Amino acid sequence: MSYQNLLVEIKDKIAVVKINRPDKLNALNAQTMIELKNVFTELGKNESVYVIILTGSGEKAFVAGADISELNKLNTISAKEFSEKGQEVFYMIENSAKPVIAAVNGFALGGGCEIALACHIRLASENAKFGQPEVNLGIIPGYGGTQRLTRLINSGRATEYILTGDMIDASEAYRIGLVNHVYKQNELVDKAFEMAQKIISKGQNAVRSAIKAINIVGEVSGKEGQNYEAALFALCCGTEDFKEGTSAFLEKRKPKFTNS
Ligand code: COA
Repeated sequence: MSYQNLLVEIKDKIAVVKINRPDKLNALNAQTMIELKNVFTELGKNESVYVIILTGSGEKAFVAGADISELNKLNTISAKEFSEKGQEVFYMIENSAKPVIAAVNGFALGGGCEIALACHIRLASENAKFGQPEVNLGIIPGYGGTQRLTRLINSGRATEYILTGDMIDASEAYRIGLVNHVYKQNELVDKAFEMAQKIISKGQNAVRSAIKAINIVGEVSGKEGQNYEAALFALCCGTEDFKEGTSAFLEKRKPKFTNS
């Protein structure tokens, strides 16, 4: 599939999806949202892809938000559809069976912060800046930001960022747990690759089950979450990878997972 606003490269079981509108700081317009939906659908089906890295083109921005020239035309009716459609795309990313690592290489504002929040793991470059500046435009986050930011960092801080629109620099983002690691800009994607390779070396049934179990947090009660964990744990114990992983440990050798 070809894309106007995305660059997609697949190498060694890792897909790198780069949002590519550098002249607009990779702002998410309607076309880009359609392409994101398509690419995540395609990569979900592609058996040769185990991990997805999401990043932005250029050295200035990951994604500077939803495209404000399109936002400007919304009314109450079209805005609801706009928000729901965007939420659907980000929900799809969050529920991707394959881990999605955001390599945040610059501004991650509004929808840019929200798409990073929908990824499973966030890494940032030193120049990254996060924020939900929608209040400056007279709106609130509409792609899940009020929910995911509040779940990820503490609710007092999330409320402050959403109400003030203040930007969060990379070191602060690290301090508050918004990103897992901060790297030099020129090392960021390599570091994301290193993390992806580490994940790829594990049994993928286990990796994908872990994502499912983690994603249910907050969606159901704690007890239901544990029931779901037990069911997924049991399914993992029925796999060849489980036999291989435990046998390899006992035989003091490295496991050779076949993802079966
Ligand atoms: N939507 C549409 N276009 C955007 C955009 C967005 N969210 N963010 C940046 N751009 C465009 C600018 O309009 C400009 O285009 P132009 O050259 O055709 O005028 C280009 O990207 C470069 O941005 P510019 O503002 O000149 O860069 P800067 O370095 O001065 O400022 C930002 C960078 C990120 C601080 C600033 O662009 C900004 O505040 N962007 C909007 C962020 C936002 O509110 N996002 C949430 C939207 S809900």
